[in-house]
Amino acid sequence: MRFINSPPPAKAAVQELNFTIRGDARGSLIALENGREVPFEVKRVYYIFGTQEGVARGFHAHRNLKQVLIAVSGKVRIHCELQGRTEDIWLDSPDRGLYIEGLVWREMHDFTPDCVLMVLASDYYDEADYVRDYEEFNREQA
Ligand code: TYD
Repeated sequence: MRFINSPPPAKAAVQELNFTIRGDARGSLIALENGREVPFEVKRVYYIFGTQEGVARGFHAHRNLKQVLIAVSGKVRIHCELQGRTEDIWLDSPDRGLYIEGLVWREMHDFTPDCVLMVLASDYYDEADYVRDYEEFNREQA
């Protein structure tokens, strides 16, 4: 059974988002606002780019952080795991996003050389919110 877009259990959720493109003859624009397109108040933005061929990143879960991932350029495959189920989602367009809340194991694979992966986050960087050990992740979500 897919868990993407399904009603979330109490502690974690993964949801695909589609953003409205405001296009005209000049090109395209997407606007993201707190509490509207982004379902939380954004406190931090970071972006991953220039990823070397064959490199995978992530390999962690967050205890409380909410994030929206957007490939504003290029493509990347996001691997998520929740309650023993896995999903792989390609982020391949700036009008698509992936909302991840709570204790979801996430990995980022197959970055194209032009990929710029922008992440909007609900809180400041806090190493204490990370679960980087897979066994620990399984214990905490049990
Ligand atoms: P890291 O957690 O390894 O990135 P990923 O999980 O995406 O592979 O982060 C790389 C480095 O950047 C690490 O030293 C922590 C630092 N960092 C910050 O200082 N602030 C941030 O918001 C993030 C995401 C990372």
